[in-house]
Amino acid sequence: MDSTKTITFSLLVFSLLIPARTSVTCNNAGCRRGDPVIRFPFRVKARQPESCGYRGFDLTCDNADNATTISLPSGDFTVEQIDYAAQEIWINDPDNCLPQRILTLNLSTTPFSSVYSRSFSFFNCSTSDYLRFRPLNPIACLSSENSTVFATASPRVVNFLSQTCRFVKRVDVPVLWGFDEQIASSDLSENLWLTWRVPRCRGCEIRGGRCGPKSNSTPEIVCSNVPKSGIPMRARYAIAIGAGIPGTLFLFGLFCFICGKIKSFIKRHRLGPDPDQSSPAHLIQPNVIISGLDGPTIESYPKIVLGESKRLPKPDDATCPICLSEYEPKETLRTIPTCRHCFHSECIDEWLKLSATCPICRDSPEKSSPAPEENLDSC
Ligand SMILES: *[C@@H]1O[C@H](CO)[C@@H](O)[C@H](O)[C@H]1NC(C)=O
Ligand SMILES: *[C@@H]1O[C@H](CO)[C@@H](O)[C@H](O)[C@H]1NC(C)=O
Ligand SMILES: *[C@@H]1O[C@H](CO)[C@@H](O)[C@H](O)[C@H]1NC(C)=O
Repeated sequence: MDSTKTITFSLLVFSLLIPARTSVTCNNAGCRRGDPVIRFPFRVKARQPESCGYRGFDLTCDNADNATTISLPSGDFTVEQIDYAAQEIWINDPDNCLPQRILTLNLSTTPFSSVYSRSFSFFNCSTSDYLRFRPLNPIACLSSENSTVFATASPRVVNFLSQTCRFVKRVDVPVLWGFDEQIASSDLSENLWLTWRVPRCRGCEIRGGRCGPKSNSTPEIVCSNVPKSGIPMRARYAIAIGAGIPGTLFLFGLFCFICGKIKSFIKRHRLGPDPDQSSPAHLIQPNVIISGLDGPTIESYPKIVLGESKRLPKPDDATCPICLSEYEPKETLRTIPTCRHCFHSECIDEWLKLSATCPICRDSPEKSSPAPEENLDSC
């Protein structure tokens, strides 16, 4: 074989190899230390060529503090975190008033949508009524000297607020689903949680590959650099041990928890002579449904209005265990007759509507009928 042939052959092999590795070379970028690594489908405008990003995924490093920033129709947001494999992004307001952005949030022209969302109603309340809203969490950055703004996802609180406050707007907010229902209102300072459907790089990312544009000119994407052998054996063992043992422990814990629940349910409801005949499913169900007390029952519990002297029924209990603020003169306290624990009336009323147990001792006041004229002296 002469040298010309060798060179031709080498060139042929070389030209076959090049397209298989990468088509467009895109380096990772980042704005500040600790900020998310930026790669396809995102790109930092000034640092990566246009072909390294997907349309709508342009980021900038904000001039003022160099924060990773994305521009959406309702303003600029700071990018807090990107999960490339899950195709999720967490953003927040650089000016620390996320609710302000949420009020004008409209994602319909962006590549992003919510992972979960909850419908929040915003209310603008006159500050003179402030004490009435005590257990609620105001949005400080939207409130002023004369008005206080609240956002709530609870229909009950919506009812309550719409009686005295001006309804501002109802917005679907892309926040973590499963807010504790006890949180009647939120200051909405948590990051917004968004996802994107296109481009789909999830499968490629999970396989450890690198998702990117096929060429400079087409919007087509390819998955390259996927490791050949898949997950190495040692990693598989590590995953089996790492996930298997906690998983087994979790299932065992769950089993114990459910057994405990069933036992306590049987104890509390003193089932008929032959408990074997009721299936466990029957036993669990009533315990799972969270139900509170009705209005008349709550109203039947004794109330007291504190005098100027703030003389408390029990001097060492000067704070409400629910909102953790001190009792003030003229405030109304209510006590749970069975266990004699005291609370702000507006705090415990909201609580009892959701749960028929005392928040301190978990006694259920419903069971034993309260003595209606009981006074608070022993609260
Ligand atoms: C969002 O914007 C689109 C068009 O720009 C509009 O059709 C839609 O009604 C808006 N959605 C909300 C909730 O305002
Ligand atoms: C709330 O109402 C006050 C006046 O009633 C107004 O100045 C303020 O801008 C309102 N705030 C919001 C967020 O609507
Ligand atoms: C709040 O109300 C007071 C009295 O009505 C008024 O003097 C003051 O200017 C108001 N403040 C704001 C920020 O509107």
